Parts: sequence; C-alpha cells; structure tokens
Amino acid sequence: MSQLNQRHFLRLLDFTPAEIDYLLRLAGELKHAKKNASETQYLKGKNIALIFEKDSTRTRCSFEVAAYDQGANVTYLGPSGSQIGHKESMKDTARVLGRMYDGIQYRGYGQALVETLAEHAGVPVWNGLTTEFHPTQLLADLLTMQEHLPQKSLNQMTLVYVGDARNNMGNSMLEAAAMVGLDLRLVAPKGCWPEEQLVEQCRIAAQKTGGKITLTEDIATGVQGADFIYTDVWVSMGEDKSVWSDRIALLRPYQVNSAMLALTGNPQVKFLHCLPAFHDDQTTLGRQMAEQYGLNDGMEVSNEVFESAHSIVFDQAENRMHTIKAVMVATLGQP
Ligand code: CP
Ligand code: NVA
Repeated sequence: MSQLNQRHFLRLLDFTPAEIDYLLRLAGELKHAKKNASETQYLKGKNIALIFEKDSTRTRCSFEVAAYDQGANVTYLGPSGSQIGHKESMKDTARVLGRMYDGIQYRGYGQALVETLAEHAGVPVWNGLTTEFHPTQLLADLLTMQEHLPQKSLNQMTLVYVGDARNNMGNSMLEAAAMVGLDLRLVAPKGCWPEEQLVEQCRIAAQKTGGKITLTEDIATGVQGADFIYTDVWVSMGEDKSVWSDRIALLRPYQVNSAMLALTGNPQVKFLHCLPAFHDDQTTLGRQMAEQYGLNDGMEVSNEVFESAHSIVFDQAENRMHTIKAVMVATLGQP
C-alpha cells in the first residue's frame, strides 16, 4: 500500500480503517512466510535506530528480530549511554539520527517527544510505547484476536479491558476500537478512566466502523458476553512509587480471576495481557508487592487464569514481532 510508504507510526488514529486492516493482513502474510521459510527481504541494507528510554523485552526483541529477518541492521540506544535527553534535545537527536538511519523506533515518555522526533527526523518514526499510547501492541492484539476467533470479524467481537484504563493501553484500546469497529468495554473505577476528550474523539471515529465504546464501573454487566478479557499492570513504567498503594486499593476488585471469567457467561472467553504481568511471586517486584500489600494470588490477574487454557498471552507476545515487521515493511520497504 504505497500510501503507507515513509509514514510515521505514532498512534492508531493517524490511520484509516483500511490502512489498519492492510497492516494486519500484511502481518499475517509475513508470519506465514516466516513459518514456511519463504520470507522475502524488503528491508535489505536499511539501518534502523532503536531508542529505548524505558525498559523492554518484547518490543526491543520484536524490532530486532523483525529487522534481521528482513535484512536490515539495528543500533540499540538504551536509557543510558547516549546524549539523548540529558545533553541533547529530541529535535537535535532527530536531525542527527535522520542523517544516518532509514527508520527510528522510540520508546519513552510523553507522546510529544515521539512527535518531535517524527517532525524533525525526515525518516519514518515508530512509537514503541509512550506514556499515552502503545500502538504496535494493539496491532499484535488485534491479529491475535483474529487468529483465535476466525468465525467473527473484528467488528463483531466484544473486547473487555479491565483495570487501569487511564494509561497507554486504555487509550490505545479506544483508538483500536474506533479503527476496527470493536464492541469495547472499559471496566474500571472512574478514577482509572481515560480522558473524556479522547473517549469522545474515538466515539466519533468509531461511527465510521460501527465501533461501540462503553465505560463502566460495574464488573458484572461490563464483562457479560465478552469474547476477550484484557488487562494490564496497575502501575505503569515511569509512574511514581507513591501511587502503588492507592492504585492497588482502587483496583483490587478488578482483578481478572476465575470468578470474573465465569461472569462473562462465555466458557470460551480468552484472556489477553500485553505483558509483563504480575501473576505470581517469581519476580523481585512481584514478591515485594505481594508481601507489602498482602496479595497472595497475583495482582491484575490471578495465576490460575494466567496459566489457564483461556490465556493466549504468549501468542500475543509472538505477534508483536510479526506486526512490528509489517509496520516496518509497509513504511520502509513497499512490498
Ligand atoms: N508489551 C510490551 O511492550 O512489552 P515490553 O515492555 O517487554 O516491550
Ligand atoms: N502500561 C504498561 C504497558 C507495558 C507494555 C506500561 O506503560 O508500563
């Protein structure tokens, strides 16, 4: 799709429903080609910079593996070790990296930073997570939903997002619902709802696709009939430690557990999580939180649900790579 060539990928609302549909189809094709060892390299000789001001496992590895599969080279610039931010502005960084690289991934803080990078780089810039949005994650989620419910199209599916909806995932869910016409329900206490302005913007955009956006505090009605239940961490990267205690108190009733899955009334309901997840005490932070707040069965999701047959979280994780590859190929490689 030539109209995607040299475009940035900063948030889903920057695209048309047809463009998002194309990226999902391309990701499916690239996935199939890789599995059949018949992948064509569309990014041969391209150089890609990966800026990470926050930690990452999936996003970094997805960009790296996708680039290598496609014949491109990558440079990783981590939270320390470059001049970015502390000694050199994003505008100057953009003008330097744009002279050397064909594409730039950015993970970090405010959306305004990735927008500045995009404005001044002169090459495609991809948002690998900001405080406000995580658009590549949603592409992977939509592809995973299509794969697990092939009998429905996305505009016939009900996705319920439970927990902290006032973060990059809640915001990106709204934009995804508008783009593909989901029946999206955000089930969370009012203090964790996204900004009203974004909700309205997405409701308007959703008129084109038949998408429906519902916000509710009520778990029983919110999850009723769900095809998919999605949650994310209750405290995101970059948030102050002081928010933990209030956030846990607020969100505790919203843990995704077997009782909540039963309330959906759908024995086939699938569980999604962008990961990493607090579901056991096998991490240092998980152990600390479990002890400090008396959590004995995970935080945003119980270990039982996370490890159950409902859980498709590792299919999602794999699809990060295929969908990120599609974004790079479509914006840099013109298949
Ligand atoms: N889901 C996600 O973005 O994971 P990482 O933080 O590991 O990249
Ligand atoms: N909301 C989470 C998403 C991690 C993929 C965060 O920003 O930390």
